[in-house]
Amino acid sequence: MYKIAVLPGDGIGPEVVTQALQVLKKAAEKYNIDLEIKEYLFGGAAYDATGHPLPPETLQGCRESHAVLLGAVGGPKWDNLPVELRPERGALLPLRKELGVYANLRPARVYPQLVESSTLKPEVIAGLDIIVVRELTGGIYFGSKERQEIPGGYKVVETLEYSTGEIARVVRWGFELARQRSKRLTSVDKANVLESSRLWREVVEQMAPAYPDVQVSHMLVDNCAMQLVRNPRQFDVIVTENMFGDILSDQAAQLTGSIGMLPSASLGGGVGLYEPIHGSAPDIAGQNKANPLATILSVAMLLRHSLQHPAAADAVEKAVARVLADGLRTADILTAGCRPVGTAEMGAAVCQAIE
Ligand code: IPM
Ligand code: MG
Repeated sequence: MYKIAVLPGDGIGPEVVTQALQVLKKAAEKYNIDLEIKEYLFGGAAYDATGHPLPPETLQGCRESHAVLLGAVGGPKWDNLPVELRPERGALLPLRKELGVYANLRPARVYPQLVESSTLKPEVIAGLDIIVVRELTGGIYFGSKERQEIPGGYKVVETLEYSTGEIARVVRWGFELARQRSKRLTSVDKANVLESSRLWREVVEQMAPAYPDVQVSHMLVDNCAMQLVRNPRQFDVIVTENMFGDILSDQAAQLTGSIGMLPSASLGGGVGLYEPIHGSAPDIAGQNKANPLATILSVAMLLRHSLQHPAAADAVEKAVARVLADGLRTADILTAGCRPVGTAEMGAAVCQAIE
């Protein structure tokens, strides 16, 4: 029996999670996987109901589960709360930290059916299949921050902290993944400026001899941003620190046609956390417009990494490819000649394709 904690969150979160849950249930039924699914309040929704974006019952429920499926958090409604109560800083980041999920895998794959949806030329992105491994529980996101009043305004100090151990454990994921894939690893840093990046590079160099089969290279983050749009297929596995990974993974997402297509798995703690990389998109929330595929593909990652069920994971991924081949498209990936569908219709079509 596997326990799954579900955190729909805010904005389009609940809509995409509803569809992804249908898909999870369908796959579980087909492959005889016994699930106990419990929903918890999280983010702005939790703040509205309880006064805190990460209520203790939610954290406890996540800790006691095998995996957590998360929609998205945040929205203009909560933007003016004190930072520690805002959904991002008060719920999402503490949840990642508390679960210890330091290795965030963000695969960006261009489905042949979506080559035309990208803003880049088909010949640049066709066949693209890369994965960004983002460090998720350290760096500038979690270092101490302060704001002082000074004459004429304020002065802020934010600290970027990394230890050898924190770097090594996520870089190991990069090497291991590269080993299972095309054996090419790109470590991205800003070693020409940042001390943390110099340490990052040293750690990668120290680990490289243990992976003689992996060809590792270093790239500065500004160059990587350029190379991702110039010739993205030169990459296979990219490993990088928290903030660089945040930025580069949005960029990688757009290569695939839409940020609405990218799932993620956050691993390394006892419990796996699965979420689409997109945000809560308040502008389209509640309108049945959002693309549920990123969350559905996150369910596939959940089946693979937390439930050790590769066959069920494959079935979900194949079902997604199938509905795309059938021409179903949410607004974000719609091109001429395809059938526009809403969130619910897309989810139902994936469920049907699993059968
Ligand atoms: C992401 C998001 C979050 C992040 C935000 C919502 C705090 O952009 O998961 O990429 O920066 O990690
Ligand atoms: Mg982001």
